[in-house]
Amino acid sequence: MAVIIKGGTVVTADNETRADVYVEGDTIKAIGPDLDAPAGARVIDAGGCYVMPGGIDPHTHMELPFMGTTASEDFFTGTSAAAAGGTTMIIDFAIPNPGQRLIEAYDQWRSWAEKAACDYSFHVAVTWWDETVHADMATLANERGVNSFKHFMAYKGAIMCDDEVLVNSFSRAAELGALCTVHAENGELVWQLQKRIYEKGITGPEGHPLSRPPEVEGEAANRAIRIAEVLGVPLYLVHTSCEDALEAVTRARLEGQRVFAEVLAQHLVIDDSVYRHEDWNYAAHYVMSPPFRPKHHQEALWRGLQAGMLHTTATDHCCFCTPQKQMGKDDFRKIPNGTGGVEDRMAVLWHHGVNSGKLTPSEFVAVTSTNCARIFNLYPKKGAVAVGADADLVVWDPKATRRISVETHHQNIDFNIFEGMEVQGVPAFTLSRGRVVWADGQLHTERGTGRYVNRPCFAPYWAAQHKRNAAAEPTPVKR
Ligand code: URP
Ligand code: ZN
Ligand code: ZN
Repeated sequence: MAVIIKGGTVVTADNETRADVYVEGDTIKAIGPDLDAPAGARVIDAGGCYVMPGGIDPHTHMELPFMGTTASEDFFTGTSAAAAGGTTMIIDFAIPNPGQRLIEAYDQWRSWAEKAACDYSFHVAVTWWDETVHADMATLANERGVNSFKHFMAYKGAIMCDDEVLVNSFSRAAELGALCTVHAENGELVWQLQKRIYEKGITGPEGHPLSRPPEVEGEAANRAIRIAEVLGVPLYLVHTSCEDALEAVTRARLEGQRVFAEVLAQHLVIDDSVYRHEDWNYAAHYVMSPPFRPKHHQEALWRGLQAGMLHTTATDHCCFCTPQKQMGKDDFRKIPNGTGGVEDRMAVLWHHGVNSGKLTPSEFVAVTSTNCARIFNLYPKKGAVAVGADADLVVWDPKATRRISVETHHQNIDFNIFEGMEVQGVPAFTLSRGRVVWADGQLHTERGTGRYVNRPCFAPYWAAQHKRNAAAEPTPVKR
């Protein structure tokens, strides 16, 4: 099927141009002014709209087994909701149980994801260490298109990595030319603070942020950054939520270290007052880690995004419905951690970023798509409006408005953490590899049409940093 998008303004991370975009099959074939519409091509009128690369959400957890339950959103419903919001690719996580082979977990997640309606890829978590993990990391990097390994520094007693695992895994990733990513929170501190707070009689969701103050994240961010520096491996911090972690990233970057950081749409616009809501269910729906922060952290995060210290925006989409959240009714430590948002990220970023003047449309494209494609080696197949790129596109209507609500969203969760937010700027059409999957408020996704995307390692590029550190290695004294 051919599609021609006519009369729009093409926005990339570099510029804005009035141009038509012609798509044949799953690829962009031509971009230019006044392109002729070939016979039979579907014509999309993009007058008054922006034509941008579809969003890439680098952090989702569809159907994740976690904290005694399973995330309610599966790969089909989740990628459909993503498409409704203008996102055309997700990078999810294969997370082995401690002791489980990495390849086995990866194969398990690949089979779950076969139902996806837009393209996807996987970070693979390292949750334990032995020689099979060492070997599987190479197989994944060299043969399965995995160039990023995830490390949870929190969730003690479950999937947490201690420093020994971090050092082993970061060293291996450096050898392979892969990127390390971290959930930065000091899991031991969280564990002990949770116990103290619970024993004081604070059992509700308000205990959650008290047990995970910003210092807990700042310490872990700094530790991961310093370990990565010593071992000469590039690092990517997921869901940077506070000034403390942002400061660690900023300092490292100013020292020339290759550190990247992600911020969630949620952390940019929601503060910690939600945990003191009188309705337990409402407050519990905001239980995610790291938690929402006092307001001044939001301002810092926006500045970090504007200054180029935060590179990508994500959602950590990990949905639990009310009965699942109620598993922690008497103990906040048992509330499954996670919030939704994959459908709303683009609109929230546009409304609060572009409409407020904090971001230009090109900067919006950078932080919602292109930077992610570059960091994770998807560019220019993804994250670009360019001849030869995948036709993952969004036709964005900057005038149209939407009131975000659980009543109208497409996410498989009975709550929306942005409930009631009025946003101006919404997707009119979304194309996933040339298929029109969202048009005029209607979803047209099909189960199983998404494809797995390989992300090869960046060996020669990363090696430069490796050498910088190797050059500083001490030599023995000749006697
Ligand atoms: O609370 C969260 N973020 N749940 C999902 C797992 C994680 O930490 O990313
Ligand atoms: Zn996390
Ligand atoms: Zn996550």
